[in-house]
Amino acid sequence: MKIAFCGKGGVGKSTIAALLCGALLESGYGVLAIDADPSPHLGRLLGFAEAESLTPLAEMRDLLAERAEKQGPYYNLNPKIDDLPEKFMLKKDGLRLMVLGAIREAGGGCACPEQTVLRRLLSFLILQAKEAVVVDMEAGVEHFGRATVVPMDFILVVAQPYRGSLETAKQILRLSQELKMERVVVVGNAVRDTEDEAFIQETLGVEPLVSFPEDREVLLAERKGKSLLELPGPSREKARELVKKLSSYGT
Ligand SMILES: Nc1ncnc2c1ncn2[C@@H]1O[C@H](COP(=O)(O)OP(=O)(O)O)[C@@H](O)[C@H]1O
Ligand SMILES: [Mg+2]
Repeated sequence: MKIAFCGKGGVGKSTIAALLCGALLESGYGVLAIDADPSPHLGRLLGFAEAESLTPLAEMRDLLAERAEKQGPYYNLNPKIDDLPEKFMLKKDGLRLMVLGAIREAGGGCACPEQTVLRRLLSFLILQAKEAVVVDMEAGVEHFGRATVVPMDFILVVAQPYRGSLETAKQILRLSQELKMERVVVVGNAVRDTEDEAFIQETLGVEPLVSFPEDREVLLAERKGKSLLELPGPSREKARELVKKLSSYGT
């Protein structure tokens, strides 16, 4: 099961990604979590203490330039990347985490050599993984392109019941239709009642697969910098429900 999260900044992508990782682990899946956000903090939400001091791969300019074999205007389009996961992956109890940082699509204007290394690494990780894969992507839709999303089984678009978040979700849904992506699913977050739920559904024309409640446990865990992997309470139940529904599609 290969799952990518997208949606407007602050809607809860990283939060729900971490909760989903917890529920997948609990159901017996191995999990590869990939943080592809420019300001990554999935590691903290997954309880990796060392993630705080980690430099995202995207910021290791020398390493990326070296792998791209950049010489003047020329570079290697097929850089060596297969040893990088072993060097930079964090691991614990069935969970692996790779902190990539910002990735730009080639079509999105950036064909720079360093980005070629990152994109190749991302595809490699997704295709090679034997575990469930959860990718926490960048906020908006600017970098939503074929290379990143095509190997995915599910794109989960996180939406909260307010206009700004729903406009971004709509754009993502439109783009994914253009890319002929199937299994693009809306997940509600901070949904307080049926009116909130209906507002999401009416605005997007799609029913959320699962809606997460506004949850004080999530807020408190964030404040304390605690892991969400074993968070008690309603969000955990919802994450379990999400795993069940995604598995029932069969991948
Ligand atoms: N269901 C929720 N209940 C309470 N707080 C939430 C919930 N979802 C997210 N948050 C809080 O909202 C903030 C933004 O969430 P985050 O997952 O970082 O968003 P994103 O990754 O989409 O930018 C965080 O402080 C997080 O703890
Ligand atoms: Mg995030």
